[in-house]
Amino acid sequence: MKLEGKIAIVTGAGKGIGREAALAIAAEGATVVCVARTQANLDETVQMIEEKGGKATSLSRDLTDAAQVQSMVDAVVEQFGRIDILINNAGGYPSEIYDKVGHQAIKIWEWSEEQWDQIIKTNLKIPFLCLNKVVPVMIKQHSGDIVSVSSRMGRIASQMGGYAVAKGGIVTLTKTTAIQTKEYGIKVNAVAPGMVDTPGQRVYNHNVGQDNAVMDSAADVAKGIIYLLCDSPKVMTGQVIDMFTTL
Ligand SMILES: NC(=O)c1ccc[n+]([C@@H]2O[C@H](COP(=O)([O-])OP(=O)(O)OC[C@H]3O[C@@H](n4cnc5c(N)ncnc54)[C@H](OP(=O)(O)O)[C@@H]3O)[C@@H](O)[C@H]2O)c1
Repeated sequence: MKLEGKIAIVTGAGKGIGREAALAIAAEGATVVCVARTQANLDETVQMIEEKGGKATSLSRDLTDAAQVQSMVDAVVEQFGRIDILINNAGGYPSEIYDKVGHQAIKIWEWSEEQWDQIIKTNLKIPFLCLNKVVPVMIKQHSGDIVSVSSRMGRIASQMGGYAVAKGGIVTLTKTTAIQTKEYGIKVNAVAPGMVDTPGQRVYNHNVGQDNAVMDSAADVAKGIIYLLCDSPKVMTGQVIDMFTTL
């Protein structure tokens, strides 16, 4: 129980990597605030945590909207008085983007402005807004631990265009935030998974014709997040852990 008494926000906790991270953090004793848009999925995650004896609550928010991110932070501070942990995980590959594409390699010159705005909004604006609104609370506390979810696609030359650019942006966002917050006792790191078996990835795989792709497990990604929160030394900030066997 290395996180007993801590208050953790997990974004995108309705399914996939976020749900596994929420379960693992709750198993270490923290109270987890699960955030996503779909309330029914959040209810399921909270129920799974409670069935295992953990503590969790949920907030339905669209995190692409700054006002909703601020209201998430205000609600957590009002209820619990602090935010010890942020798992900056919400994101993914919106189906509108690949729906009529039929392959995953959308060339830079093929992206429409609307597709580009949407992928950046979902994968770079959300993590930025969450840092932007949560970090001031952690600065006041003089403590905090943040783990963002980047991707292997943001670490290598990748065919995934705007998604890869956004996930690469999370790497820079992590390093920038780390050097700007270390004087306040805040740690900021990221994980960069390969292809992970989640509901979102299964829909994507089907739409681009790769149903049989071999995938890593979301529970393993959660173990990396737990390592960063529970066992990594305090000098370890601004780091991105690559986690993949698949790509
Ligand atoms: N699966 C992979 O292979 C893989 C690999 C590397 C990195 N990643 C990254 O890992 C993260 C989680 O991916 P996943 O595969 O677990 O995806 P997933 O199964 O699609 O789950 C995504 C979660 O994010 C939430 N979300 C999406 N947009 C949101 C918004 N605007 N506001 C609030 N919540 C939002 C979703 O809930 P609602 O739709 O209900 O809002 C859901 O709970 C993403 O950032 C993804 O890019 C995934």
